[in-house]
Amino acid sequence: MDWTSLSWYFQYLSSQIAKYSELENGKDLHLTNEEEGILKGEDGAGAQTAMELLVAIGDAFDARGLIPISRAHAASSGQEGDLFFVEILAKGNARCKALTTTNPVVDFDYFQNLININDEHEEASVAWKVKYYYKQIGAIMSQSCIPYLAENIPEYGEHVAFSESSATPYVNSVIGAFSNRESIQTALAAGIIGKTPEYGLHFTENRKGTVLVNVECDLKDGFDYSLLGQYIGKQVGNGIPVFTGMKDRPSIDQYINLCAMLNVSGAIPMFHIPGITVDSKTVVDAFGGNKPKDTMTVTNHNLREIEESLQSGSRDIDTVILGCPHYNLDQIHKIAELLKGKKLKQDISFWVNTSATTKVLAERGGYVKTIEDSGARVIVDTCIDMFCWNNLRGKTGMTDSPKCAYYRRFGDVRVGSVEECVASAME
Ligand code: F3S
Repeated sequence: MDWTSLSWYFQYLSSQIAKYSELENGKDLHLTNEEEGILKGEDGAGAQTAMELLVAIGDAFDARGLIPISRAHAASSGQEGDLFFVEILAKGNARCKALTTTNPVVDFDYFQNLININDEHEEASVAWKVKYYYKQIGAIMSQSCIPYLAENIPEYGEHVAFSESSATPYVNSVIGAFSNRESIQTALAAGIIGKTPEYGLHFTENRKGTVLVNVECDLKDGFDYSLLGQYIGKQVGNGIPVFTGMKDRPSIDQYINLCAMLNVSGAIPMFHIPGITVDSKTVVDAFGGNKPKDTMTVTNHNLREIEESLQSGSRDIDTVILGCPHYNLDQIHKIAELLKGKKLKQDISFWVNTSATTKVLAERGGYVKTIEDSGARVIVDTCIDMFCWNNLRGKTGMTDSPKCAYYRRFGDVRVGSVEECVASAME
């Protein structure tokens, strides 16, 4: 695609978003002289492209202008669409102005030994170029889908641009930062310019609850929080749930699972748990004095129905994949405890995905050795939605993540708690 067609593409994108969001294309977006200069190409073609995208989005959502952001997270996917945009930016000499982290793609060092990655492997070549160009534009090669725990942690009240399913609700709801639900490309453009269009969740009044959710189900572990997220994401679709009736403060991994699934089965950028999450002490606070547009109740029966709907196939499993989203240190520790002194069935492949940062600490704690002594592997930098898992097609996999099951590189899939995954893989 050449530059003229790219410009046309952004205009088209803007008009389509405006149509979709039923907003008039405002044309009211005010740019400073400096921003106008970037738009005209004074900072190079890459920054100009990034600015064109931000202006298109700003126009579509009737933003009044751009606001500075301190950090961004681009949910880089290592796939064609990702490469298309980051390559244009890199070849146009763009560099990130705000700290910008990246999502997992593939750990080439590890998978090189398992599958034949040669010069003609098209998907590998795309993924390799994606990593190369992100590095070239100055992004942090964190390659983690939970960057908000280690490599890129916003503060309360900070304006940021975070893409990735669990990341947006986590930074908005648990930390209290301000982010819209960004795409890879809009988050990346914001990271390049150091600004984002000011609309949506950058305004306090748009961060109020819309749907009241009475939680009557038991939430005993991270898996139940995944099921809750899956159920509510599907029921609410697009909105801001306010959860009541939760007996305990969720742990970090429970928050991560809830956030990820709210934003996979639905498009939920944030939620409130009055008295627990940072922005509301009471239900009245959470709704900003407004009435809920809808009210729903979640029971144990609802969760078990969702769990059942995720299962396919009844064969013995061949493979277990954990760590979608990437496991944090507590979860790696837990898996180490579950696998301690045990051996997996001989014909089972068992992978635990995490970030490079977490793996360093897990190695220091001895957890990686304990896990790998059982026959399982701890791998870094890798997303379960990548070509490196293609050889799982036709196999029956098990995972504790409905998101992993949704992307389904397996043939059939069983979904259960981490304890159930471990038990299924044992002699
Ligand atoms: Fe992370 Fe990829 Fe799963 S980005 S959440 S491992 S689909």
